[in-house]
Amino acid sequence: MSLQLARAEKADIPQLVDLYFNTFKSPLVLRVKPDVPPVREWYKKSLESDIEKPYTRIYKVVEGQAGSVQASVEIIAFAKWSSPHTEPPQEKFTEWPVDGDVALFEEVTGKATEKKEKIMGQEEYWYMGVLATLPKHQRRGAASLLMTEFCKQADQARHRSYVEASPLGRPTYQRFGFETQDTFSVVIDGEPYIDCCMVREPQKPS
Ligand SMILES: CC(C)(COP(=O)(O)OP(=O)(O)OC[C@H]1O[C@@H](n2cnc3c(N)ncnc32)[C@H](O)[C@@H]1OP(=O)(O)O)[C@@H](O)C(=O)NCCC(=O)NCCS
Repeated sequence: MSLQLARAEKADIPQLVDLYFNTFKSPLVLRVKPDVPPVREWYKKSLESDIEKPYTRIYKVVEGQAGSVQASVEIIAFAKWSSPHTEPPQEKFTEWPVDGDVALFEEVTGKATEKKEKIMGQEEYWYMGVLATLPKHQRRGAASLLMTEFCKQADQARHRSYVEASPLGRPTYQRFGFETQDTFSVVIDGEPYIDCCMVREPQKPS
């Protein structure tokens, strides 16, 4: 069986929620988005809203034959990214689940936003929001398929791209041409947790 890339559909969202919580186990995510039913419900609603947005793109990777991607097939990886847009003010972080560590969330988003604005300013850029492969399917090229599609779209639009990379995501982003411009950190249980602010220059489509 080969890995197949396809645009995710609304019917995929329950699987994407499972995949997200079965994959993201960093100290930061465990604190900010603990795997409890209200947070899962919140994440499901946020994906249901995102999938309708014209500037948000959610792609999945499944195993199968070329041209036969079915909604019932197991999703092994997914990514969510945005093309350049202006976020309507009412869509900004309105319903953060109280079950997570809201103070830590606000500290992280505050630091991330400050760095992003400093690095990217007012320019239009593509934003990689989520990249996740189920642990048992990692190191098979699933994230590479998603990154190849992301880079193709950004290159065709000739825009730079931006990501806040976790320590686990950094090598994959580096492999696709992202470079670290800055970092920010928060302290979790006495340990520093560092995210990298990474930028990718558009490349000439081949
Ligand atoms: C980061 C992450 C998305 C990578 O997913 P992945 O599907 O394993 O990525 P790939 O398989 O494309 O690449 C991973 C490695 O496997 C290698 N690889 C790719 N295809 C391969 C294959 N067929 N056989 C063996 N190795 C392969 C790649 O070269 C890469 O090697 P490197 O680590 O030396 O650079 C995954 O580890 C993950 O979900 N981590 C937790 C969530 C997270 O932190 N996401 C990033 C958010 S910023």
